[in-house]
Amino acid sequence: MSDRDPSLSTRDPEMARLIADENRREHETLRLIASENYASRAVIEATGSVLTNKYSEGYAKKRYYEGQEVIDQVEELAISRLKELFGRTAHGDKADIHVNVQPYSGSPANLAVYLAFCKPGDTVMGLALPAGGHLTHGHAVSITGKYFKSVPYGVRKEDHRIDMDEVRSLAKEHKPKLLWAGTTAYPRTLDWQAFRSIADEVGAILACDIAHISGLVAAGVHPSPIGIADVVTSTTHKTFRGPRGGMIFCKKAHADAIDKAVFPGLQGGPHNAATAGIAVAAKEALDPAFVDYAKAVVENAKHLAQKLVDRGFAVTTGGTDNHLMLVDMTSKGTTGKVASKALDKAGIVLNYNAVPFDPRKPFDPSGIRLGTAAVTARGMGRPEMDKLAAWMDEVAKAPADEGLLARIAGEIRELCNGFPAPGIRLG
Ligand SMILES: Cc1ncc(COP(=O)(O)O)c(C=O)c1O
Repeated sequence: MSDRDPSLSTRDPEMARLIADENRREHETLRLIASENYASRAVIEATGSVLTNKYSEGYAKKRYYEGQEVIDQVEELAISRLKELFGRTAHGDKADIHVNVQPYSGSPANLAVYLAFCKPGDTVMGLALPAGGHLTHGHAVSITGKYFKSVPYGVRKEDHRIDMDEVRSLAKEHKPKLLWAGTTAYPRTLDWQAFRSIADEVGAILACDIAHISGLVAAGVHPSPIGIADVVTSTTHKTFRGPRGGMIFCKKAHADAIDKAVFPGLQGGPHNAATAGIAVAAKEALDPAFVDYAKAVVENAKHLAQKLVDRGFAVTTGGTDNHLMLVDMTSKGTTGKVASKALDKAGIVLNYNAVPFDPRKPFDPSGIRLGTAAVTARGMGRPEMDKLAAWMDEVAKAPADEGLLARIAGEIRELCNGFPAPGIRLG
């Protein structure tokens, strides 16, 4: 048997080595990318299981292939756990929540919303990408900006917060079919009810994208849009700590349109191993410890933001309400790209990012974006956030000092040895 079916390290040592290298890199660096996290060993096991072998086009009990007695249970378990979990913080009638766990990821989940509710050429509104919105909310380079008439809204110049007056006046002027509320680089709480009332005034479908904050929403640390919005989309691999995937929550009245949009509208067979991983992540998030985790994510982010402000970093909006912050590196005499490359060498991994009203180009912007979801999953807290702010300050002052970057990388390796990351296996 073993000859016919060797392990990865025997079959493909080159790939086994690359995976071992990534395990080590993830272990010995600080993961500050706001959209990333560590999936648990249990989630990774489910995601790497034989469930990857099975085709199951359709939905439970209505499939196009035979042999679904296990897969139907996997998908139904994922759905029932998500209903229980997100039902806890949802508004209104919990029995009116429909869940689809088949989107391959966050972008296909959002495309399903367009397919369910819009026709090409319809007007849609979403937060502009340079203001912290996502590509799939109507940005020009995305299919969503090419096939639909996109009217982006922004943030206020004075405080970099979403300008609800602008959202309302643009909505009244352009009468969108679909209004997106949801962000990819925005550090403040979103007022779902305010979006709902604007959508109601103009007869728009309200779609809330909680990709970044779904773990915080599940834990009740950020208000839930479920029960307020017509449809809520999310990735499953950010603060939620599942495998890469997507999920959609909607009112039952829209269940048929959403399900048909996902399959057969956009996709073929669902990725059943990912569905199993989502079910495991939902079970983990149902544990009371997950609420403590989500609270700690936000506490760490607030603390880190304050420490950076104290050191002269220009944190947009002056702080954060969620897991992430945006920092204008002009305040430190450098750019987002120079800083992020230097920080990466020092073991602090984040991304360069445009800040609101950024005068620089998107590929070489002024800012960086960082989040605390992953470092908190390792058990780090205030003392580690203090160290992080100090290291970031040192790097920002001397991004070309290779000796300094190497010294900090060594210190971070040592710190990380004391905080093993979930799911990471060192060879
Ligand atoms: C708000 C938001 N929506 C959708 C997505 C798309 O998710 P994916 O990259 O899984 O397609 C992201 C990803 O960063 C996001 O931040």
